[in-house]
Amino acid sequence: MSVPYITIGNVRIKRTAALAPMASVADRAYRYVCKDHGAAYMVSEMISAKGLCYSDRNTEELCTVTDHERPYALQLFGEDPEYIGKAAGMLMKYSPDIIDINMGCPVPKIVKSGAGSALMKDPEQIYRIVRAAVGSCGVPVTVKIRSGWDGEHINAVEAAKAAESAGASAVAVHARTRTQMYSGKADISVITAVKQSVSIPVIGNGDVVSAETARDMYEKTGCDLVMIGRGSYGRPFVFDEIDCFFEGREYAPPTDIERLDVMYHQAELSVGFFGEHTAMSRCRRQCAFYLRGMPDAACFRDRCSRLEKLSQLGQLIDEIKERLWISSERKKNT
Ligand SMILES: Cc1cc2nc3c(=O)[nH]c(=O)nc-3n(C[C@H](O)[C@H](O)[C@H](O)COP(=O)(O)O)c2cc1C
Repeated sequence: MSVPYITIGNVRIKRTAALAPMASVADRAYRYVCKDHGAAYMVSEMISAKGLCYSDRNTEELCTVTDHERPYALQLFGEDPEYIGKAAGMLMKYSPDIIDINMGCPVPKIVKSGAGSALMKDPEQIYRIVRAAVGSCGVPVTVKIRSGWDGEHINAVEAAKAAESAGASAVAVHARTRTQMYSGKADISVITAVKQSVSIPVIGNGDVVSAETARDMYEKTGCDLVMIGRGSYGRPFVFDEIDCFFEGREYAPPTDIERLDVMYHQAELSVGFFGEHTAMSRCRRQCAFYLRGMPDAACFRDRCSRLEKLSQLGQLIDEIKERLWISSERKKNT
């Protein structure tokens, strides 16, 4: 069964599942592994428009992506149309397929500056920001919004319409309000309402963790593409699962050994991209997710939290593999 493609501007994207932007989590190594396992589209960690304009070195690092990740978007955040316009133009040197603008970040520091989800309070500013980005870069511009500021102010439809009329080529909707942050259940009826109100593609986001929940998101909202954030923690395989489901192929979940090998591969890539110190601090948390459900996971997770070197992770993986072998032998003998 062949899966259809959607287009955002001139960019073709397989209608399976995209990886959501996740600052400090979905870095280059994480995205690389998700792409290997079938993520149809990826969005970078958020990049400060002002930071980029003032040539902040950390910001430069965030803009670097590998061709392997295409089609990909670089995501900007900021509250000022002038900086957003300038930064969108500057991003062209990194050759993104799409530029996305963050209108959903709930972090107090970002919100206080008027950026991220604070923009949900001001659809006219959304219009100005999108207009500035569209006018200064040669690629499609998209926005990622929330349902609204809080339960009393659900205005995703209004925000999406403002973005569309300013020239946005797609809108991603995280179906939670700012006050919900990341808790509570996503109310996907908001995504349905947005889909019924705009003509540009709508990306549905919130609580998708499997092929079944992806199918539900497509069927219940009519969205054009599904986006997965936390459901991919330690589980890049979720993209394979969704690919198989929509292509009508049998899905074989990874064995524990395969999961460990992918975990090591991600760590290795991370060391190559960021150096051992930064890589291992990021790996500590991610490895704990990969180990979920394995025998003695709690004890091994504790060891993960103290990893300093890639070689220590290699040793730990050898021990876990041995543990897995012993427990499978035990099962055979009982
Ligand atoms: C650790 C973390 C970092 C995030 N960083 C970003 C970000 O940089 N830009 C953005 O638009 N959304 C960001 N998000 C929100 C996610 O993209 C996504 O909208 C949210 O997690 C809901 O999807 P999920 O239920 O599939 O996780 C972040 C979420 C998490 C958990």
